[in-house]
Amino acid sequence: MLDPFGRKISYLRVSVTDRCDFRCVYCMTEDMTFLPKKDLLSLEELDRMCSAFVAKGVRKLRLTGGEPLVRRDVMKLVRGLGRHLRSGALDELTLTTNGSQLARFAGELVDAGIKRINVSVDTLDAAKFGTITRWGKLDQVLGGIEAAREAGLKIKINTVALRGINEDEIETLMIWAHERDMDLTLIETMPMGEIDGDRTDQYLPLSVVRARLAKHYSLDEIDYRTGGPARYVRVAETGGKLGFITPLTHNFCESCNRVRLTCTGTLYMCLGQDDAADLRVPLRASADDGLLHSAIEEAISRKPKGHDFIIDRRHQKPAVARHMSMTGG
Ligand code: 5AD
Ligand code: SF4
Repeated sequence: MLDPFGRKISYLRVSVTDRCDFRCVYCMTEDMTFLPKKDLLSLEELDRMCSAFVAKGVRKLRLTGGEPLVRRDVMKLVRGLGRHLRSGALDELTLTTNGSQLARFAGELVDAGIKRINVSVDTLDAAKFGTITRWGKLDQVLGGIEAAREAGLKIKINTVALRGINEDEIETLMIWAHERDMDLTLIETMPMGEIDGDRTDQYLPLSVVRARLAKHYSLDEIDYRTGGPARYVRVAETGGKLGFITPLTHNFCESCNRVRLTCTGTLYMCLGQDDAADLRVPLRASADDGLLHSAIEEAISRKPKGHDFIIDRRHQKPAVARHMSMTGG
C-alpha cells in the first residue's frame, strides 16, 4: 500500500482497548470515561481487521491500548494473529504495555511468537511512579519486566520525558535499562486529549536532555531503525542503545509507514490529525472482506502529510481531542 506521498504503509498499530489500569498524568484525566463495552469490536472482528491489513501488505502489527493486557481474553487474539508469523505473511507481532500484567502473560506472549515488547517506565522511584501513573505500582511493573526477560522477550523501555518530574532520572533509567540489555527510548509529550495538568509545564524538549547527557556520555549516531520514528545513538560507556522520539522538536513524518486502528474499528491515518475512516461498517456489512479492502485502500489514499504538534503558552488546546489511549501512540 502506497500513500499519496509515496510512503509504503507496512505497519499497523491496533488499540485493542481504550481502558487502562493506570491513569498517567500526561495521558489521561483521573476520571476518564471509557467507551461502553458494546462499542468495542469483538476479538474475532479485531482478528479479521488485522488479517485484512496483513493481506494488503502490512508486515508489522503492534497491539497497544490503553493497556492491551487488561482486555479480557486478549491472548486469544494474540495467539490467533501468531498464525501470520508462522505463515510468513507477517515479520513481527509486538506489544506496547505498561507492564502491570506481564508477570502473568510473559510466557504466553512468547508462545504466541512475540519476540520483542515495549514497556513504559517513566521513573524508578516508587513514590514518583505513584504520582505519575496515579494508580500504578512500580514493584508490579518491575516484576513483570523480570518475568518477561526470563521468558526470553527482548524489551525496550519507553520513557516520556517530563520537565521537573523525571528529568533528573534520565541517566539512572538509562543505566538501569542498559545493564539489563534493554534499549531505552525517550519520548516528548504530545498534545493529545485533555489532561488535568498543564502540558506546557510537563514538556521537556529532548534536545535539552540529549545535550545534558552528551556532557557525560559519548552518544554515537547509529543507523539502527526499528521501523518507528525513534532515532538511535549508541552510548559508548554503557554499550546500550538510546532512542529519541521527538514529535515536537523534530518532525519525522516524512518516513511514516504506519496507520492506527482503534478498538471500535476507526482507522486514524495520522496520530496528530483528526481525519479517520470507519472500518467497522464495511467489516460488518458483509462476511467477505471485499468492502473492507476497498475501505482500507480509500483511507490510505487520504493519509495526510504529517502532524503539527505545538506546545507553548499560546497553544493551550490539544492538537487532537482524543487521548493517546485511543490510538495507542
Ligand atoms: N505524549 C507522549 N507520550 C504519551 N504516551 C501516552 N500519552 C502520551 C502523550 N500525550 C506514551 C506512554 C507510552 C506510549 C505508548 O505513549 O507512556 O510509553
Ligand atoms: Fe495507561 Fe499508557 Fe496512558 Fe499510562 S500512558 S494511562 S499506562 S495508556
